[in-house]
Amino acid sequence: DWTMAAFRDAEIAKIRQQVGKGRVICGLSGGVDSSVAAVLIHQAIGDQLTCIFVDHGLLRGGEAEQVVALFRDHYNIPLVHRDASDLFLGELAGVSDPEVKRKTIGRLFIEVFEEEAKKLGGADFLAQGTLYPDVIESVSFTGGPSVTIKSHHNVGGLPERMRMKLVEPLRELFKDEVRALGRELGLPEKMIRRHPFPGPGLAIRIPGDITREKCEILRKADAIYLDEIDRAGLYDKIWQAFAVLLPVRTVGVMGDGRTYDYVCALRAVTSTDGMTADFYPFEPQFLGRVATRIVNEVRGINRVVYDYTSKPPGTIEWE
Ligand code: XMP
Repeated sequence: DWTMAAFRDAEIAKIRQQVGKGRVICGLSGGVDSSVAAVLIHQAIGDQLTCIFVDHGLLRGGEAEQVVALFRDHYNIPLVHRDASDLFLGELAGVSDPEVKRKTIGRLFIEVFEEEAKKLGGADFLAQGTLYPDVIESVSFTGGPSVTIKSHHNVGGLPERMRMKLVEPLRELFKDEVRALGRELGLPEKMIRRHPFPGPGLAIRIPGDITREKCEILRKADAIYLDEIDRAGLYDKIWQAFAVLLPVRTVGVMGDGRTYDYVCALRAVTSTDGMTADFYPFEPQFLGRVATRIVNEVRGINRVVYDYTSKPPGTIEWE
């Protein structure tokens, strides 16, 4: 009968069979899917795998360090960590349109990934954490089996250009099964339970133009919000929760002085697939506590609001 351990062993055998003595590269995002794929493939073929982590500078606080600590230090998986934040933030300077932000990030991601792959001398295979729902979506949208890579690890076009074949060990799995496989592989529970995070990262949580300073303000507010959610035992009841930094300044008072700082919006939704979502009904006391902490602890924010919009008609992200 079917168990996750049996599935893992069967996939490991399949990966060995497919890859032979070939070289594999895998793009890591910090999310569950690419992490599980990478650890599984490493168990199958060891150091024939190299992971590439393109850090666009739009991650949450501590995230890049966690990826390096887990993959390089804990699992001993060969990992290239490319800090490309100057490049990404430089090209994004002055860009306000959400779709232009996405396209810019997607294009740079491919460029940097390709550059790093070339430095490694290329590879025979590109590994991806494509899930079953991604397979279905790409078939229905493109009308063909050629895979449309989730914008998260947007390396679309790369496999053909670099003549790489795809290794996609999660193609038959749904999200909850990927989590179960991750547990089977001993990935930390924190990583397995992690809320989804969009590929463009904080770029689409800062309406208007993006600066390093705004990213830093948002990271602090977001960390406080998630910390309070965690302490209240609510993290696993929520599909996604995050802070948004609005390009609006309002007046406030702090001590004897007047402040004129940004507004931070808090978002939290329940959902099963991200296609529809309901706002999460926090207790007012909880929101009050978060607002107080953010305004007291984060310089640059003096007002916090909560988003009560469900999807539809809203989207989960603000851009
Ligand atoms: P929306 O905002 O469309 O989000 O209701 C639905 C889900 O998709 C995620 N999302 C993205 N993920 N690249 C991604 O990888 C993107 O450009 C992107 N936009 C939205 C969002 O976080 C939510 O889980």
